[in-house]
Amino acid sequence: MTALILLLAYLLGSIPFGLLVGKIGYGIDIREHGSGNLGGTNTFRVLGAKAGTIVIVGDMLKGTLAASLPMLFSVPVHPLLAGAVAVVGHMYPVFAKFRGGKAVATSGGVMLFYSPLFFLSLIAVFLVVLAVSRYVSLSSMAAALYAVVYTVFFTDDIPLTVAVLLLASFIFYRHRANIQRILNKTEPKVKWPGKRS
Ligand code: G3P
Repeated sequence: MTALILLLAYLLGSIPFGLLVGKIGYGIDIREHGSGNLGGTNTFRVLGAKAGTIVIVGDMLKGTLAASLPMLFSVPVHPLLAGAVAVVGHMYPVFAKFRGGKAVATSGGVMLFYSPLFFLSLIAVFLVVLAVSRYVSLSSMAAALYAVVYTVFFTDDIPLTVAVLLLASFIFYRHRANIQRILNKTEPKVKWPGKRS
């Protein structure tokens, strides 16, 4: 049963919302446009707010649902393990030739299930860094870094700390190209509505 739950979590994480919304709604593969990422940020960038929001919420909720599978099926699997497996599915989706996203929204969804308060603090860090820098990628990494510092130094929740270290490593690894672009000053910034640059 444990293997079945983890397989289900992987398959859930593999649902490529960016690809589905791009293909069904607009007839394009989002991975051929913008940053080439399958996530909500790139969907937002290429297809606009409505499509981007659907993808962000979908990518997040599949993490939340995957983390809740052990509870739903009363299986003794740690929710953070099921959630982490879903994040692997999101990054390497079997339904999209293993070319998936950067782990941010799905990891957030896992945290939403495990600790809504911690999730809110992650959102707060993300929004503050976004308001200041206008880089979504930097904001995602800042939230991941905050999660590492918080769990390592300020909690004694070992499973959470291990999960955060793992998910943050995924996030930093998947943002290699963004880090390079930030250093080169070629990373696109978010444009606020009504602002010129
Ligand atoms: O969640 C992904 C985000 O941090 C960066 O996406 O498309 O700008 O590479 P993107």
